[in-house]
Amino acid sequence: MTISKVLDYAKPSLKGTLRIPGDKSVSHRSIMFGAIAKGTTTVEGFLQSDDCLSTIDCFSKLGVAISVDGEKVEIKSEGLAAWKEPNELLYTGNSGTTTRLLLGLLAGSHISSVLIGDESIQKRPMRRVTDPLKQMGAKYIGRENGQYTPIAVEGTKLRAINYEMPVASAQVKSAILLAALNAEGETVIKELETSRDHTEKMLQHFGATISVDDQTIRLQGGQTLTSTHVVVPGDISSAAFFLVAGAIVPNSNLTLQNVGLNPTRTGIIDALNEMGTSMTIELDELKSHEEMGTIVVETSSLKGAVIGGDLIPRLIDEIPIIALLATQAHGKTVIKDAEELKVKETNRIDAVVNELKKLGANITATDDGMIIEGPTPLHGADLQTYGDHRIGMMAAIASLITSSPVTIDNAECISVSYPNFFEQLTSVLNE
Ligand code: S3P
Repeated sequence: MTISKVLDYAKPSLKGTLRIPGDKSVSHRSIMFGAIAKGTTTVEGFLQSDDCLSTIDCFSKLGVAISVDGEKVEIKSEGLAAWKEPNELLYTGNSGTTTRLLLGLLAGSHISSVLIGDESIQKRPMRRVTDPLKQMGAKYIGRENGQYTPIAVEGTKLRAINYEMPVASAQVKSAILLAALNAEGETVIKELETSRDHTEKMLQHFGATISVDDQTIRLQGGQTLTSTHVVVPGDISSAAFFLVAGAIVPNSNLTLQNVGLNPTRTGIIDALNEMGTSMTIELDELKSHEEMGTIVVETSSLKGAVIGGDLIPRLIDEIPIIALLATQAHGKTVIKDAEELKVKETNRIDAVVNELKKLGANITATDDGMIIEGPTPLHGADLQTYGDHRIGMMAAIASLITSSPVTIDNAECISVSYPNFFEQLTSVLNE
């Protein structure tokens, strides 16, 4: 069952401080790396969202002992060789990261298993992972030659690969790297464009040797990981909703703490700066292997910009909320080179354009993005989330500036990445 929600915020301003919850990408990886390493891995700042809980559930079914206490997680493992063959399906829910990285990890294991996800996952392309992995010797069976889940994996011995990536995707890169850990020989990956490097950073944090030279990554197979302590930074993709809210809602001033500032993720900061957002950033002292800091944002006079090229992989998940910001910016914003949006939790080009149009935005879909003319006053409407958390949060932030209430059809999908989103939003509302 899905619950619709009426968002009726009467001309608020946003004031206060938020501690941004854990990064989804890093949280997933902390469980996976803890499960590969022998010994006890401890995690702090873990994001207890639906997607990350799907990862925990899959690894529990593989026999890894995982205990969760709020944002603290403990993973006890005897290493990948000790994982057990699951007697149930591995259900990856809505999570592309869980599905694709597990396809990589299970390929070189001793285990046979079947991965299945929700309706959205069952439509998302997996050959971008299964094709290169098959070149390494992996054995998969799935619809359309391993394109769609459910996919059965029969673990087998893998060999290294020399692979030029046809898409800029951290999920593909990470699936190959995780398989390469278990393969014979040195794997070399050449990235098309630099995508988020959480896997490379975490491999080093767990004691592996990996070389990254410009966009070429080399990893020798057969390395063992050493269990360790992981501090998960706050998710800049979650912070993005409040960065935009702070910029577009009149008389606002928000302080966002604990924001992950890994340079492969800070494209949103570059885009917001270019569009005239008034922000200050202070880096924290380095606590673990990922940078974080505090961002203060205030109501800003915004201008349009062209967003494309190698900036896209550094802000791919933030495009829905950037599109909303662009409706309030003076002039034209062009978002291009972003075809990847079509294969996210939903087709995010269509979803963003359809829903912002319903609110009165001047926005047009293109083949590889969208064009927005602003500024436009927005009005209320009944919006659809398409079960996509980021479309739901875009709608919620939009409702802060609409002249009448907005209704969304499925508010609970937001817990895929930001379970306390509404609680945090309410805490900074000054009506
Ligand atoms: C992710 C990588 C990105 C991103 C997703 C999380 C990751 O996907 O959109 O939300 O954790 O590696 P792609 O790698 O497919 O671009």
